[in-house]
Amino acid sequence: MAAPLRHFLQFKDFSREELEHLFVRSGIIKARFKGYEPYHPLADRTLAMIFEKSSTRTRLSFEAGMHQLGGSAIYLNTRDTQLGRGEPVEDAAEVISRMVDIVMIRTFEQDIIERFAAHSRVPVINGLTNEYHPCQILADLFTYIEHRGPIQGKTVAWVGDSNNMCNTWLQAAEVLDFNVHVSTPPGYEVEAERAGLFGTDHFEAFADPMDACRDADLVTTDVWTSMGFEAENEARMKAFADWQVDAEMMRVARPDALFMHCLPAHRGEEVAAEVIDGVQSVVWDEAENRLHTQKALMEFLILGRVET
Ligand code: CP
Ligand code: NVA
Repeated sequence: MAAPLRHFLQFKDFSREELEHLFVRSGIIKARFKGYEPYHPLADRTLAMIFEKSSTRTRLSFEAGMHQLGGSAIYLNTRDTQLGRGEPVEDAAEVISRMVDIVMIRTFEQDIIERFAAHSRVPVINGLTNEYHPCQILADLFTYIEHRGPIQGKTVAWVGDSNNMCNTWLQAAEVLDFNVHVSTPPGYEVEAERAGLFGTDHFEAFADPMDACRDADLVTTDVWTSMGFEAENEARMKAFADWQVDAEMMRVARPDALFMHCLPAHRGEEVAAEVIDGVQSVVWDEAENRLHTQKALMEFLILGRVET
């Protein structure tokens, strides 16, 4: 029997209890994979991946993950499909969702993926929009839990742009009950409505990034210029110059604080090489965990709760 139709378009689409289930499943699926134990619950299922922006990790982790679960994945990009020639996203959703079992989309405005999902017969996963990157935060949280245990009550310091990653950390803090200390340059502050927040209880803004990092359990950042905002690059380079995560910021965080970055990274811009390549950095685990957490996500969206 098919699972009831669910989508993962933003982090708060899932409850805390569902996320906890996903983290458990991620651990089981990861251990099986590491033990070379075949696990093919999605045999004969097909994933369509639609990319309107570049990707290394997202494409690879979804494509490899679907194969490892026994299914197949099809890569589509705007340039080679009728979407690039103006076919309405609603029509594309009607057609694509009659041919595959699940869809992953990386696109620009959140509205595009919401419209696709509204016309889809199958689950739709957000593989990054201008507003959110929920799959990355799923992997980041699983990575935190693997290294340090539950995140509830902990403090995450976000230094840099209030972009799709920042918004998703803020949503995750509300669902999983932890705190985010954000420091952005003036003019790049968090917009609560765009971030899709219920309130401000789990989020505090700091003018000085050192203050945001003080006593944090996790320090994280991302590129100063996200995909789609390249025209602003020069202005952003100037505005963000003092928002590089460096050894001094890591020193004021808790001694056991982790450093995360979703990658790709620019050493010498948003993060100093000694931090991203240092002992507190878990960036390679984060990248690997995209694979395991998204396998758990696809299992849940296609089959519902699997307990074995
Ligand atoms: N972190 C992330 O989503 O990487 P890609 O852009 O390479 O998919
Ligand atoms: N904020 C970045 C994340 C890349 C994975 C971007 O949107 O380009």
